[in-house]
Amino acid sequence: MAPTRVLIDTDPGVDDAVAILLALASPEIEVVAVTAVAGNVPLDKTALNARRIVALADRHDIPVAAGRAEPLSAPVVEDSVVHGRDGLGDLDWDEPAVALDPRDGVELIAEMIGRGPLTIVAIGPLTNLAVLVQRHPGIDRSVAHLVIMGGASFQGNVTPAAEFNIWADPEAARVVFDADWPITLMPLDLTHQAYLTDDDLAYLRSLGTEVGRRVAAMLEPYAQFHERWYGNRDVIMHDAMAVYELLDAEAIEKQGVRVAVETDGVHSRGATFIDRRREHADSLVRVGLSVDNDLFRARLRERLATLKD
Ligand code: BDR
Ligand code: CA
Repeated sequence: MAPTRVLIDTDPGVDDAVAILLALASPEIEVVAVTAVAGNVPLDKTALNARRIVALADRHDIPVAAGRAEPLSAPVVEDSVVHGRDGLGDLDWDEPAVALDPRDGVELIAEMIGRGPLTIVAIGPLTNLAVLVQRHPGIDRSVAHLVIMGGASFQGNVTPAAEFNIWADPEAARVVFDADWPITLMPLDLTHQAYLTDDDLAYLRSLGTEVGRRVAAMLEPYAQFHERWYGNRDVIMHDAMAVYELLDAEAIEKQGVRVAVETDGVHSRGATFIDRRREHADSLVRVGLSVDNDLFRARLRERLATLKD
């Protein structure tokens, strides 16, 4: 079977970095482009980090372009407490050997849609995709599949109601969920079931590769953050779930739903209302409910081990 053509829209972010590397290491997927959006850190940093990760995997053939620097109407997030000041755990990096593509990220997404069936993996705020739909009415209907990490049914992580990617640009999320494309959504309820442990970090270090060393080093401050925040060092792999869906779809149980995004609430701005009533069983939008973490961890280990540097 031909590999799935995939564009990754991202705000790296250490879990974005793992998601991108998982995609680059997987023969089922052909990554045709990476577009950066402001999110975990401002756009200049997310674009630089996307170039660093693509260069780390030695994939100079993949264009990396910068999209939107500002959410539709929310303020830009200035400094991440979760991902380090640089967004990737504050390691030392050489200037990446992958240059920034001069094209506008949103237009690069449109161009890639025009070239054939495309799956978009969206693992940051949804600003680039909202602007895509606004600038190119109807383009949503030409996208084969959109896999989003975002939202929560029961508990947010920025506020009690809101998950980061939706909270960072709720107006954009509303545009995206109201558009007409097949969406698979990976909310916090699902992604908290997918985590790496200290054993996995030790495994990555033991690979003896630059990828293994760097990923383990990036994830260490993230583990420390989780320990302060959640009381254990489990490293939650939010964004990798959106890629994993394209590798082992049967390992993630899903259900048809309708998703509405709150943009006005006093306490609930950025909340996602995920309606699981049976009337939405055949909806174009599906939500991930549960994942087998042992299968996921094994797949991630196997794939990252193939990235030699
Ligand atoms: C999401 O927010 C970001 O911090 C992560 O990279 C992930 O995309 C989880 O809420
Ligand atoms: Ca992200």
